[in-house]
Amino acid sequence: MNKPNGNYSVAFPKRWWYPVCRSSSLRRRPRAVTLMDRPLALFRATSGRPAALLDRCAHRNAPLSLGSVHEGCVRCPYHGWTYDGEGRCRDVPGLLVDSSSPTRDVEAHAATEQDGFVWVWGEAGAEPTGRPFPLPKLQGETVFPCDLDCTLHAALENTLDVPHTAFLHRGIFRGVKPKDLKAVRRNLENGCEVEFVGESVGLGRIQGGPLASKVFQHWDRFFMPSIAQVEYRVEDWLRIYNTVLHLPVSPFKTRAWFVLQWSSPVPAALIRPIVQLRGRKVLRQDAAMLARQSERIHRFGGERFSSTELDVLGSAIWRLLRQAERAEQAEQAEGAGASDGAERDQAAEDEPVPDAEVVFRI
Ligand code: FES
Ligand SMILES: [Fe+2]
Repeated sequence: MNKPNGNYSVAFPKRWWYPVCRSSSLRRRPRAVTLMDRPLALFRATSGRPAALLDRCAHRNAPLSLGSVHEGCVRCPYHGWTYDGEGRCRDVPGLLVDSSSPTRDVEAHAATEQDGFVWVWGEAGAEPTGRPFPLPKLQGETVFPCDLDCTLHAALENTLDVPHTAFLHRGIFRGVKPKDLKAVRRNLENGCEVEFVGESVGLGRIQGGPLASKVFQHWDRFFMPSIAQVEYRVEDWLRIYNTVLHLPVSPFKTRAWFVLQWSSPVPAALIRPIVQLRGRKVLRQDAAMLARQSERIHRFGGERFSSTELDVLGSAIWRLLRQAERAEQAEQAEGAGASDGAERDQAAEDEPVPDAEVVFRI
């Protein structure tokens, strides 16, 4: 019963854009980021566009992220080898013959900038397909970064998990007066969503009164590979998005940026402090619980989960991540002529979780 099973919900599909830092934090100096255990040096190449190279100089493996940027190239801090945004070695100081040779180059990942974030393509040396996930555009915005000691999957599920809000965050959102809710799960292109129908408007102890006749429109969404999004609307009076961009730093470390946006006739100066105060408190509670959950999973040598229909998105998210990862692995194996069809058979089994409806009390 308690034998370690080595099961961990860790998947890293590579052919996707991942957020790695905020645009404002990538300035004149290079900086180090880690994408699923892979150290990368980020810097601004020609005309300021972001570039991402493997953070290991081809010469003697010094970290390029400790170097400096000169005319759109990153210069190694040890002997000064210099690389462009594609990872080609452009200069070897003191070498009088042509410095170009593929053995002196370093691997590059495609990088781009969108909505105030730098994004990196998960597969080195590959041409990206499509653009990063677009953030909504609303009048008010505040962003909280947070480092979570858990898998990407646990972080995604936590943001989109409604039942825990009545317990872990009791009194902040829910858990004061139980309400019945209908949840409708649907598959989206490269993702899935749950729409919650019939929740009367209220926040913690602020319930009833003139608001009680109004209902929230509420959606929780997952988009491949690492975006969780919660949207609330109250008629045309209030619209709130919490879009969480995740960077899988390593199998059990995930960096999250909570992008809270809203539009409302209520002045931003009134809404912002409420959102910030509640947001930070909720985040602290979630981060502490996720760390404890991970500790327990490691202590027992693997995950052993039991779910009910209230866990509306967790398995659907896991299937999408695994399916994408397996499809990439199968394609690679086929390219290498090594496929025996087993991966493809497994991928075929991984049909999307079907659309469903569930009513629950919260
Ligand atoms: S280690 Fe980078 S130039 Fe020598
Ligand atoms: Fe939470």
